Amino acid sequence: MILKNAKDANGAPCEVWVKDGVIRAVGYGLPAPEGEPVLDARGLTLLPAFIDTHCHWRTPGFTYKEDIATGSAAAAAGGYTFVNLMPNTKPVCSSAETARSVMDKAKEIGLCDVNQCVSITKDFDGKTLDHLLELPDDLRYISEDGNGVMNNAVMARAFAIATDRGLVVMSHAEDREISPWDYRLAENIETVRNCHLAEYYGTRLHMCHVSTKEAIRAIRQSQFSGGRVTCEVTPHHLWFDDTRLQYKVNPPIRTAEDVDALVEGIKNGTVSCIGTDHAPHTAEDKANGAAGMVGLETAFAVCYTKLCRECGLPLEHLSALMSAGPAAVMNLPAKGLVAPGFDADLVLVDIDHMFTVDAGKLHSKSKNCPYDGQSFYGKIMLTLKAGKETYRSPEFAG
Ligand code: DOR
Ligand code: ZN
Repeated sequence: MILKNAKDANGAPCEVWVKDGVIRAVGYGLPAPEGEPVLDARGLTLLPAFIDTHCHWRTPGFTYKEDIATGSAAAAAGGYTFVNLMPNTKPVCSSAETARSVMDKAKEIGLCDVNQCVSITKDFDGKTLDHLLELPDDLRYISEDGNGVMNNAVMARAFAIATDRGLVVMSHAEDREISPWDYRLAENIETVRNCHLAEYYGTRLHMCHVSTKEAIRAIRQSQFSGGRVTCEVTPHHLWFDDTRLQYKVNPPIRTAEDVDALVEGIKNGTVSCIGTDHAPHTAEDKANGAAGMVGLETAFAVCYTKLCRECGLPLEHLSALMSAGPAAVMNLPAKGLVAPGFDADLVLVDIDHMFTVDAGKLHSKSKNCPYDGQSFYGKIMLTLKAGKETYRSPEFAG
């Protein structure tokens, strides 16, 4: 297939030749091999499909909020072809069997590739690490998402094991003894500790949904000290501040000053990816205090409108935050770029198309979306995974 009449992130004309699910050539005026089908991009912007470092599909155990089929459809509609799933399911994902069952099911559905994280402590008990010693080679990411690991000795041992076994620690930084009275301190104190442990043991550490200016500063310092530390920010921590939104999410929506520090952290390279923290909940669960919001289908538009339109970030940089950056974190050498030899995971976006979010129309099973009724630039028109269509917007019909 030849994709013609597209623009790249810099607005330059661009064509792509895809064969057997892989990008064979990228350029302009490519000679079309005889009989090769042509996909007309109608002047839209072509980007590498998005990769999410932080996502909840609620399987097993909470499939009334989301399941692998609806999560996959939401991902495709958001321009994603790969997501990293958190282990706060029921049962908690603490074994290769549970992780494999989720990954196999996603493969069967075929709309979006997944990695399933395994919990740091077994069943989130806060102390047992034995299961980490037996993790097979294809499960390399551990996380206690929804919780922090509060005990210093346990976390130190977890980091030592992770270094020894080549695991990546993904950290939800929250000291739960502190967060009920000071969630800022709760995030900062675990961020500083975990960065220190990463430096001390040489562990690969990825800090999830960083939300405070102090946490960003600690991560930056750790990177300068040689710590193997990366981090993500969420679209909602960039878009909202505490004067604009009262909506329960962990970490909470912060101050305008924190938002500015996150944007600065993006501009100076401290932040290498956007993680959605797509966290589906039913209306009833939200009413009972569940934290989080869905985010896969709005992530690009929210980030594009905030970062590129409001803050002057080049689209190429946002593209890196949503594709190449997370591909590096997730160790996906064939994903994240529109370049020969890379998987033909592609997305066409209309950056000038302003649209209004209608939570009722989301593909996700849950509709807990505080962007409902708000307007953004940057509509996803078409998603291709390995060259095959996984989503087509009604506006790109025919
Ligand atoms: O708001 C949140 N929701 N933060 C988390 O860390 C977990 C997530 C969830 O699983 O609902
Ligand atoms: Zn989290």
